[in-house]
Amino acid sequence: MPCIEAIQGDITNQEVDAIVNAANTTLLGGGGVDGAIHRKAGSELLAECSTLGGCPTGQAKVTRGYNLPAKYVIHTVGPVWHGGTKNEESRLRECYENSLRLADEKGVKAIAFPSISTGVYRFPIEKASRIAVGTVRERLKQYPQIEKVVFVCFSEADLGIYRKVLEESRVNC
Ligand code: APR
Repeated sequence: MPCIEAIQGDITNQEVDAIVNAANTTLLGGGGVDGAIHRKAGSELLAECSTLGGCPTGQAKVTRGYNLPAKYVIHTVGPVWHGGTKNEESRLRECYENSLRLADEKGVKAIAFPSISTGVYRFPIEKASRIAVGTVRERLKQYPQIEKVVFVCFSEADLGIYRKVLEESRVNC
């Protein structure tokens, strides 16, 4: 039975096989969690990202983690929230689906997600957390080797929301 939990912290410190980056379509860095990951990983991460040719919204690409504790960074591009009229929910679901697919391909056993799209991209956190937890819970059935998923929330408020959703779906460690 996989363990799914939510913690408060900085995703760049997580001792897991892969961390997920809330990137943009250029994959060339930015602010928020993207900026934190690039700062911690070092310039080699940007050098590798520069060879990837960007990434469409909803898709994901994997790189090494370089100076991060994590072996891999899975860069995924969440949707910008436009009020829910532009398939934002489907795009966000695809971010989690594609990140797990790549993690499985790399033999990842433990993976950490940030709250994708809920910062600069303004996706409502309540809706996003339900999509995140629901999609991960559903897709993990296909990937038995993935034993642990951690939702790393930056704020206490976000942590409370994720923990409530996990409790409701009664999926936790
Ligand atoms: N660890 C964990 N979570 C973090 C960290 C961190 N070090 N830093 C920020 N966060 C949280 C934010 O508080 C928010 O809850 O990550 C969540 C996602 O916020 P953003 O990083 O703004 O990502 P997103 O909303 O997906 O917007 C992506 O922002 O940084 C740019 O290049 C990025 O253009 C892209 C856009």
